[in-house]
Amino acid sequence: MEFWSELPEYVSEHEPLARYTSLGVGGSARWLAQPRTPDELADVLRACARANVPVRVLGLGANLLVTDEGVDGMVIRLTAPAFRGVDWGGWDAPQIARDGRGQRQYDDASPVRIRAGGGMDMNRLARDSVRLGLSGLECMAGIPGALGGIIRMNAGGRFGEISQVVREVTVVTPDGEIRTLASEQVGFRYRNTELDGAIVCEAALELVPGDPVAIRQYFLDVWGYKKKTQPLAEATAGCMFKNPPADSAGRLIDEAGLKNYRVGGAQVSDRHANFIVTQEGATASDVVALVDHIRRTVAERFGVDLELEVEVWGNAEARSADQAA
Ligand code: EPU
Repeated sequence: MEFWSELPEYVSEHEPLARYTSLGVGGSARWLAQPRTPDELADVLRACARANVPVRVLGLGANLLVTDEGVDGMVIRLTAPAFRGVDWGGWDAPQIARDGRGQRQYDDASPVRIRAGGGMDMNRLARDSVRLGLSGLECMAGIPGALGGIIRMNAGGRFGEISQVVREVTVVTPDGEIRTLASEQVGFRYRNTELDGAIVCEAALELVPGDPVAIRQYFLDVWGYKKKTQPLAEATAGCMFKNPPADSAGRLIDEAGLKNYRVGGAQVSDRHANFIVTQEGATASDVVALVDHIRRTVAERFGVDLELEVEVWGNAEARSADQAA
């Protein structure tokens, strides 16, 4: 389908996606756009809407399974500096935040509103906020992904979730309109929102100045818990399934005896059963087959239908997985 007479320089064709995902599997995107500004992002969205081309946004590829047949549509990456900046609301300016002894004053400081781009690496943002003595993102330690995607799916875990600190979200709508939404308009719920086709290009987060030593220790505790219980150094998409109400998908998969179960190059992690680890040579079809096997086994064993937490991009091959996503 031709929807530009000549592709803008920030759009390429037939771009392999595996290298942009943490699972490292899957096919190509028909088109890949890396716009440099929100206006260029809006241009891409308008062009796609006009030509009826489906659009997907790739953050850091953390919570994603691209099928082997790839994506017959537009994939957008927010990699440009315009989508990766952070404005710390003045809190990072030493002359404002430090007293004469070089100590940060936080006892009676009011909350700080920071603004961060949708393409910003969540882990880096969390680390930097901790370094600055700002509390609110410690709970996100070890959760991979770009802020936009993290907000879109309301990522989090037992220590908290991103919705707790989000105050405002600036999105580009599918018809190319730039809009700012208050937190209540985002429709946050467990691992989901109502953002649908809107792309998060920036968010305002409210963080609270606190004791830097205590904040750092809490961050390290969360990180340590995850490092001990999750395969953080391996190729995974994070947790594959949502937790069923009042239970843990990892516990159910573990109890079903599926730790280490393997299909081709995809294997259930022996550290945490809600993670699938891919090895060299793995394909997306291996992962899809393993997902199907896990769902079937857990349904037979416990009568629980596990719902995918990761997004699946693709067509026919992913149908069974897609239904759950
Ligand atoms: N468990 C097992 N076997 C396993 C894994 C877990 O028995 O293989 C048990 C644990 O012993 C524990 C319970 O299940 O008693 C819960 O496990 P855990 O504390 O690891 O928490 P989780 O519910 O499995 C959630 C999030 C994680 C997040 C952690 C910690 C979901 C689906 N998962 O996991 O998020 O890192 O809490 O905050 O909400 C992610 O979203 O990608 C993710 C990994």
